[in-house]
Amino acid sequence: MSKPDRVLVGISGGIAAYKLGWVISQLSQAGVEVRAILTDAAQAFISPLTVATLSRHPAYTDDHFWQADQGRPLHISLGEWAEVFLIAPLTAQTLAKLAYGLADNLLTNTVLASTCPVLVAPAMNTDMWQQPVVQRNWQMLLQDQRFHGVGPGQGRLACDRLGAGRMAEPDDLISYLHSLLHSGGKRDLEGRCLLISAGSTQEYLDPVRFIGNPSTGKMGVALALAAHHRGARVVLVHGPMEQGLVDRLAEIETHPVVSAAAMHQAMVEHLARANWIVMAAAVADVKPATLSATKLAKGAIPPNLALEPVADILLDLARRRQPQQKLIGFAAQTGEIVAPALEKLHRKGLDAIVANPVDQLETGFGRDTNQAVLICGDQQITISPCTKLEMAHRIFDYLVQKY
Ligand code: CTP
Repeated sequence: MSKPDRVLVGISGGIAAYKLGWVISQLSQAGVEVRAILTDAAQAFISPLTVATLSRHPAYTDDHFWQADQGRPLHISLGEWAEVFLIAPLTAQTLAKLAYGLADNLLTNTVLASTCPVLVAPAMNTDMWQQPVVQRNWQMLLQDQRFHGVGPGQGRLACDRLGAGRMAEPDDLISYLHSLLHSGGKRDLEGRCLLISAGSTQEYLDPVRFIGNPSTGKMGVALALAAHHRGARVVLVHGPMEQGLVDRLAEIETHPVVSAAAMHQAMVEHLARANWIVMAAAVADVKPATLSATKLAKGAIPPNLALEPVADILLDLARRRQPQQKLIGFAAQTGEIVAPALEKLHRKGLDAIVANPVDQLETGFGRDTNQAVLICGDQQITISPCTKLEMAHRIFDYLVQKY
């Protein structure tokens, strides 16, 4: 069995500290080993006992600063132990200390005594966040490649203001941490632009009825997040998705569409910018031949609905692309998956195709997990069941060494 992943969590003193309980709990439940450091101010918002209970390990505070861990100073051994360091919420004070390399407590000393990637998630009042000095510190910190930042979102703050300053959502921190554990913090997609499609398309017969499919967009969103976490510029064209999934995309350029025709138009519009095009959307293959502007009465729906094919977007992109642009398709299959996917790869002139079964219980449409065979040239790489984020990384691991 492989060794569990190790995440060190540093909590500084802001009201969002209470959300770290959820983050730590989710990481522990996913089998990640967690150690945590709380600053003095953090303990006013979340107790060391809460953190210790959820992480299944004593939580560290400045009281432990000179506690030797098997004879070695704690900040050194914790720093060496960590594979990824999360600092959230990051207060203006701790941000300033990190930007200037100051070390006056256990948390900041451990940052300097470690070399792993650090994910930082600021949270503060809007005026504090928008202070030029805070913005300068933030930009300065992010110039250091070691630091990965998830900026604060807009929302209602604890001070009752509506504005920027709300800590990134716990789920966003968790997926970013999983990405960093996978990549080791490498930004190996930096300098590349990825145009990705996600979700289903809906082909309306009238304002309330459509032809569609059960794709939720989770795989395309996982691809977009994984690419973003590895430094790519991402343009995501997506069909209708649940709001919770759309909310995950705050840091990504998105273009929501409904129909295949609109997805086609958006993909063509953004094609020139892309180095890689990943068509993960489950495009409806047909649409009703007519679209009624008003809701049809039940009796007015023809028993034999006339259908028309929609354009094959991928085929069209293959004709339009420049030779250096790489085109990657998906093939959602039932039964045999490799042969039909290979046929699509050749017919559509693709560089790679991801064949994934949609008739398995645990994986596929709507699930958080997936499995696939990635086909590229004469190579076939089996990706066993894993989270969609992990699968996205496995696909990029292969593509990045190939192209
Ligand atoms: N695709 C597309 N436009 C369509 C249909 C599919 O761009 N109108 C893309 C999908 O996004 C996917 C790939 O083509 O990347 C394969 O899609 P799939 O539905 O598996 O194949 P089809 O070409 O539609 O063939 P069939 O339905 O006959 O299996």
